[in-house]
Amino acid sequence: MNKQNINRSFRLSLIAVLGPSGELGVRNGLLWHITEDLRHFKSLTLGHTVIMGRRTYESLGKPLPGRNNVVISRSGKKLEEVLATLNDQTEVFIIGGAQIYRQTMPLADRLYITHVQAPLPPDGADVFFPTIDPLVWQEVSRQDFSRGATFPYPFSFVTYQRRQTQPQPAMPAARPRN
Ligand SMILES: NC(=O)c1ccc[n+]([C@@H]2O[C@H](COP(=O)([O-])OP(=O)(O)OC[C@H]3O[C@@H](n4cnc5c(N)ncnc54)[C@H](OP(=O)(O)O)[C@@H]3O)[C@@H](O)[C@H]2O)c1
Repeated sequence: MNKQNINRSFRLSLIAVLGPSGELGVRNGLLWHITEDLRHFKSLTLGHTVIMGRRTYESLGKPLPGRNNVVISRSGKKLEEVLATLNDQTEVFIIGGAQIYRQTMPLADRLYITHVQAPLPPDGADVFFPTIDPLVWQEVSRQDFSRGATFPYPFSFVTYQRRQTQPQPAMPAARPRN
């Protein structure tokens, strides 16, 4: 999807929890349950529109309370059409899964990522978040935790903002003229 094709007034934010190599989930489920992360997710998204893929909606099993839930399916409205109807919003959240993150990352203004440093479950992962390119995304805030109340591994809440102008490759230093 092309950023230029869409006119919108709201901030488009992706929110996700990722393993050390961008792992998102396995067998249409999440990899870990971190109470602090669920609270963080809720505090950011409550009162807003959340957009998700049909598979993620099926894995949740029901709409998220207190939020306008929009489920994307090829048998329904196109993502571009959905975004075009949300211009009265201040911030709209893309909440997954992998297919929807991949298609909306080029449009997004902000990423709220929980980076988890934990071993993967025995089945590993079968869906991954796109690479977060530091030339495109600037880290603007970070909260590190050595563990959760019931989760025994480190995790961090990191916010990335799309850079306004992307850094140019370094130019070789000009040679003095003789
Ligand atoms: N770690 C996290 O933060 C996080 C967050 C969310 C989800 N997840 C995980 O991610 C996995 C699910 O991700 P996924 O990639 O398999 O599925 P998904 O992105 O949730 O949903 C895919 C579905 O979305 C619809 N779709 C995709 N592109 C579309 C388009 N351009 N227009 C209209 N509809 C479109 C299609 O539905 P139809 O087939 O109906 O056409 C497609 O099958 C699960 O394991 C879940 O637990 C992880």
